[in-house]
Amino acid sequence: MVRVWWKEAVIYQVYVRSFMDSDGDGIGDIPGLISRLDYLQELGIDVIWLNPVYKSPNDDNGYDISDYRDIMDEFGTMADWEKLLELCHARGIKIIMDLVVNHSSDEHPWFLESRRSRDNPYRNYYIWRPGREAGGKKLPPNNWESLFSGSAWEYDGGTDEYYLHLFSRKQPDLNWDCPRLRSEILDMMTWWLDKGIDGFRMDAVHLMQKPAGLPDSKKKPTHREGYVNDEDLYSHNPGLHGIFHEMYRKVLSRYDVMTVAEMNRTTPAMANDYVAPEREELNMIFHFEICGLPQYVPGKKRIPALNRIQEKWYRATWGTGWNSQFFNNHDLPRQVSVWGDDGPYRVESAKLLGTYLHTMPGSPYIYQGEEIGMTNVPFGSMEDINDVSLRNEWAKCAAGGETEEHFLDRKRKWTRENARTPMQWDSSENGGFTTGKPWLKVNPNYRDINVEAARGDDNSIYHYYRKLIALRKTYPSMVYGEYKLLTPWNRRIVAYRRTLEDQTLLTVLNFSGKPGKFPLPRALVKGKGKILLSNYGRETPPEEGRLDPWEAAVYLL
Ligand code: GLC
Repeated sequence: MVRVWWKEAVIYQVYVRSFMDSDGDGIGDIPGLISRLDYLQELGIDVIWLNPVYKSPNDDNGYDISDYRDIMDEFGTMADWEKLLELCHARGIKIIMDLVVNHSSDEHPWFLESRRSRDNPYRNYYIWRPGREAGGKKLPPNNWESLFSGSAWEYDGGTDEYYLHLFSRKQPDLNWDCPRLRSEILDMMTWWLDKGIDGFRMDAVHLMQKPAGLPDSKKKPTHREGYVNDEDLYSHNPGLHGIFHEMYRKVLSRYDVMTVAEMNRTTPAMANDYVAPEREELNMIFHFEICGLPQYVPGKKRIPALNRIQEKWYRATWGTGWNSQFFNNHDLPRQVSVWGDDGPYRVESAKLLGTYLHTMPGSPYIYQGEEIGMTNVPFGSMEDINDVSLRNEWAKCAAGGETEEHFLDRKRKWTRENARTPMQWDSSENGGFTTGKPWLKVNPNYRDINVEAARGDDNSIYHYYRKLIALRKTYPSMVYGEYKLLTPWNRRIVAYRRTLEDQTLLTVLNFSGKPGKFPLPRALVKGKGKILLSNYGRETPPEEGRLDPWEAAVYLL
């Protein structure tokens, strides 16, 4: 196994808009983030993944970029960003940037040019097609539904054609078949790497290469007008490997950086073709096979399903590639609310989930606020929702006759908006996030759940995370050790070993609010080996391997 820094790194995701506001406009910003670097350093993380900070009209909170080489006004200036990079590097913290190149904003100068005329030199930077006619009606070029609801095509009267947008209509898809567009993007990547960044998180890149001929989907419509939301058809098309390889050969290989590609619909069978080093493409992938389990797989089957997915990914990539570990991010609800218990066992279950993510094979990603056990939000009305995808979906469902109450009851637990409320720093108004009116309401539980309280409590989730991160740096088997699952059929208890040479760690987790049991190895019972970390503060192994609700422990055998 080749040892490299990004396999050892703990990565912390910062959604700048909600992290810390320095100027009272209610929106988090780069100076705000700078003011909290001491906190991140104390936590012990190695890398910050910055959600998009580029110029953007913010239809999709920065994922609609109007200038790839400038900073969003609300977040500060390029000088602020440069200061951030310098201060991070001085602390030994690296920065990776979000690379959003499946689409740009419709306010990007390339698009403004592109829509001017059919023979504009930028026309081909985007995907334009004439409409279809049926029964005297003008219809979009095909039946694709956008991933954010409604047709994936927007009609543009100026040139009487449609442009493709797999996300919102303000996010036109870039045309990767256009050589000039490709080289513009590679230049832009080089420009940021020359500024000294340490890599990229690549947004929705499984969609970059469209299927040849843009064929209709054959699946059942997902929209009353007959459109089909068919991500399978849009994803992983031939040509995608060529794009990654070109990025690697012409740009990435010249720097000591990491890449992690957000690619829904990636299976373990596909994974190595993207992440095996000799392929010269990517370092790791965010696949989403695990994230849907709480919503779609009922209680008793969930943990065995989790184990199966992890084992498949391990077998597919161990020794040949690398994996990522996460339960939440800015597009998913809070992990303690969907994988743990955000009621009586919030603290125990949040610690258990952290233990899992840091002891499994792959690089752990912490989403801001996870380290203090921030929870889902009791959204009461669509007026409290900012997210474009949920608002679009609501418009579609309202048109179909659904009531707001019913819609919110279906969505409340699963919406990504749960992750986006401001970071809870202390118990002062708005959780200390801003002195103004926050762009999104702060979770009302901020008086109890906040950084200040967590730092002041030795038994907090925060201090537990610090220990976890420190352990990962002390025990190489936590990073490079082979993984062996010991509980393949257990519905609640997950136990596994990680072994590297003569070092073996055993992790035992009770994924449930009921007591449980796991027979510990005899050596441990006899006092050989020791507890490295326990979320119940144990110093010796529990009698007869008994486990309390949501109990987690890491042993050195
Ligand atoms: C990715 C981002 C998400 C964004 C979408 C469109 O999935 O993580 O936040 O809305 O791409 O850019």
